[in-house]
Amino acid sequence: CGIVGYLGKADAASVLINGLRRLEYRGYDSAGVALLDDGKIVVTKAPGKVSALSEKARAEWPAERFSRSGTGIAHTRWATHGPPTEANAHPHLDQSGDIALVHNGIIENYRALRARLEAKGHLFLSDTDTEVLSHLIGDSYKSNLFQAVCDALHQVEGTFGIAVLSAREPGKIVTARRGSPIVIGVGEGETIIASDASAILSHTQRVIYLNDNDIATVTADSIDIRDLNNVPVTREIAELGFDATAAEKGGYAHFMLKEIHEQPDALANAIRGRLDFNLGTSVLSGMGTSPRELAEISRIVLVGCGTSLHAGLVGEYAFEDLANIPAEVQQAAEFRYRNPIVSRNDLVVAISQSGETADTLAAVREAIQKGAFVMSLCNVVGSTIARETSRGVYLHAGPEISVASTKAFTCQVAILLMMALKLGRGRRFSREEGMQLAKAIESIPDLVARTVRQSDHIAEIAARYAKNEHAFFIGRGPMYPVALEGALKLKEISYIHAEGYHAAELKHGPIALLEKDTPVVALACDIPGKDKTLGNVEECRARGARILGIITEGDHEAAAVMDDVIEIPRTHPLVATIPAAVALQLFAYHVANARGCEIDQPRNLAKSVTVE
Ligand code: G6P
Repeated sequence: CGIVGYLGKADAASVLINGLRRLEYRGYDSAGVALLDDGKIVVTKAPGKVSALSEKARAEWPAERFSRSGTGIAHTRWATHGPPTEANAHPHLDQSGDIALVHNGIIENYRALRARLEAKGHLFLSDTDTEVLSHLIGDSYKSNLFQAVCDALHQVEGTFGIAVLSAREPGKIVTARRGSPIVIGVGEGETIIASDASAILSHTQRVIYLNDNDIATVTADSIDIRDLNNVPVTREIAELGFDATAAEKGGYAHFMLKEIHEQPDALANAIRGRLDFNLGTSVLSGMGTSPRELAEISRIVLVGCGTSLHAGLVGEYAFEDLANIPAEVQQAAEFRYRNPIVSRNDLVVAISQSGETADTLAAVREAIQKGAFVMSLCNVVGSTIARETSRGVYLHAGPEISVASTKAFTCQVAILLMMALKLGRGRRFSREEGMQLAKAIESIPDLVARTVRQSDHIAEIAARYAKNEHAFFIGRGPMYPVALEGALKLKEISYIHAEGYHAAELKHGPIALLEKDTPVVALACDIPGKDKTLGNVEECRARGARILGIITEGDHEAAAVMDDVIEIPRTHPLVATIPAAVALQLFAYHVANARGCEIDQPRNLAKSVTVE
């Protein structure tokens, strides 16, 4: 979900709606805005996208309202409690109608609180947990909004990022966070509050990140931050370091296509300055600089969700193969609840594009509790996971807007390879071997540029698969996680039912589903295990499947058993996972495009899932 709040001289309604457009990728099933106008709170909400809200506000509200109100809050929702109806959309009002609230996160004890408030005569208009919080604030409110929010937050369990407005205290917004991010943009005579810096970019580069349990009273020219016990705290102003154009489509039909094409640059940024050809190693200062410390790592546990989890799976192969360190991947939500066995010589690597995924954050906190070395691979600078882990390496991929992750994935894999190089160099690699791998990593932007150039060719192939309703992706070794990721990409944006399997596993069940022309995408690059994969391809062909092969350039033997092929450049087997993944991103994109899907905002999904 996305939150925006505005205080200043500009037309607040337009600022808020534009801000929501920037955040829409985080949730887009309904949206709403509340303004303080002429001493009253006015709200409009609409199911569906932000454009529906914008049209509704312009149709319903008098034009003067846009020009005279400089205070408001707004929200775009990804439903948790209650379907995406107008009533369930935020902002929610309290009983008096004088307080409006927008909320990200989940109030876990909302049922008990709601029952208590109902017994006192409160009437609820929605099914949401959020409305309970607005009533609770209203219930505590005497004349001080800050105090009322504090009192209410002391009673709630769960997570929140909130912005609250009171008609009785104009020119002020109270905002707070626990587990769900809030960033405050410090402008010239204006202040913008948002759950994500992309809504702030076009106003200012200067931001303050709230910490958990911070509560701030904000006006157009002041920010007062306290903890929940009313003790003032100081938070530094940070510079965002990227401008608004980075979050625009720049001529591409979709953010996803733009982000796929940005990968050569994104990868160059992720790699730049991080390879040392002299010593044949990588320089990742965020990992901790002492070789001694690194030598003590006896096991690596990678945690993440979704696409980031798949990057971790490639990392698992890299750490074992290159660094000789036992490595395993755990789904972040599982890690937290299974009482994981980790100890002080274990390195836990949390992988998260947004740095805000609730399950991954919880896994980080669990690993810290257990005394492991914990580090993060995040893209969003200043995100919660990045800040809570004392070590970490940023991806530097630039803002990723499309819900389906592309450039973050390839940058995650590139950094995991550099980590494996560094750890491998401290153990089994000679300088010469380290240099060879460093060279292969350095060539990644070029390998990816060559793959991206085949976009039109891949579009032609994709058109032949766009009418299918099922697809299988197979691979082995480090290409197995790439198969999982290829299937995830296809299913999330084209709604084709796609499954990724280890190539050898297909025959233990899923092969029963193959019929004439069922698509099987085979990752059959020329790396160890290729012959076995080609054998599995033959098994599929024998059952009538249509095979799309991702193969190494010029590999006629592999091409001969495929119906269609996408060629990727020859390189180190682990490095090859990156161009192979890019080929599958383009395949998924073009299939979804041919099916007329809403590529950047697939149904039911959100970019960043800050609930468990
Ligand atoms: C959501 C997104 C996925 C993403 C996953 C993890 O489900 O739709 O694209 O891979 O969250 O996100 P993270 O920001 O932690 O990498």
